[in-house]
Amino acid sequence: MPNARQRNAGDKASSVVLSSVLCPPSSDHYAVFGNPVAHSKSPRIHAEFARACGENLCYEARLAPLDGFAAAARQFILEGGEYAKGANVTVPFKEDAFRLAEECTPRARAAGAVNTLIFQEGRILGDNTDGAGFTRDLTENLDFSAAGKRVLLLGAGGAARGVVESLLALSPVALVIANRSAEKAKSLAAAFAGRGLAPCGMGFAALAEEPAFDLVINATSASLAGDALPLPAGIFSARSLAYDLMYGREETPFLVQARKGGAKRLSDGLGMLVEQAAESFFVWRGKRPQAAVRAALIRQLRAA
Ligand code: ATR
Repeated sequence: MPNARQRNAGDKASSVVLSSVLCPPSSDHYAVFGNPVAHSKSPRIHAEFARACGENLCYEARLAPLDGFAAAARQFILEGGEYAKGANVTVPFKEDAFRLAEECTPRARAAGAVNTLIFQEGRILGDNTDGAGFTRDLTENLDFSAAGKRVLLLGAGGAARGVVESLLALSPVALVIANRSAEKAKSLAAAFAGRGLAPCGMGFAALAEEPAFDLVINATSASLAGDALPLPAGIFSARSLAYDLMYGREETPFLVQARKGGAKRLSDGLGMLVEQAAESFFVWRGKRPQAAVRAALIRQLRAA
């Protein structure tokens, strides 16, 4: 049987290397694939993790064509040979990566998406560290315990799906999934029924009947377009933590909305970005960058 590298040796090369990293021949190779990807902070994060942990690796950003993720990933493996060890995958390729992986971890299967690829002995393995990164940011960096709390997840796309299992593992007393399209929220909730607490799916308007939530997470992509969500004011209270999976230079529209709605604690997704990267680094290298290193990176990226 040919292995993944040999089998795909004929694929047309098509990705563009964006970062100017010159990989020394004897260092392990990693990359982040996305489109767009020029804005990605992952090369900087992993370079810092490698420095702090004394690991010899290089990590670059690769722009893959929208219809060419699999070929771009295989090209990377071919180029690196035995030194190509893994990759991160960002928007819009996480589902493509899930399909590319020959074997996936249970958390990647639950998310239906892969953000971390491991190239091992000719095989392509898929994992998803988004949920773990979210949990670590929430519980360790923000010191928030969701046990026994009311949790609202806004959105029912890939980003929302990626954190549902992690949220359920935190033992909230209620998990409501609300989405512009109520049907999508209901079907996402149904996909996670039968794992202890059953999430409840609904449209935004139905939230008017709900008491305030302790944790409100925005997993919609509305902030990307600068849109505010049509949320009833009563979902926030002074003890709510509002968490946007997105981040940006300015406070996101969702966090502005939450602050105006009375939420006193606000967080964007920058901490999650660093923590999911730390989890990928651990999967690849068996070493977890220390909390102080991760915290300093979050501060630096926020100030940049
Ligand atoms: P991602 O992988 O980032 O989650 P996605 O799978 O396309 O992207 O999902 C986008 C999510 O943002 C969906 O929940 C979408 O709602 P619909 O399912 O109703 O489309 C939500 N979304 C995007 N733009 C929105 C907007 N302007 N207002 C409300 N919800 C929005």
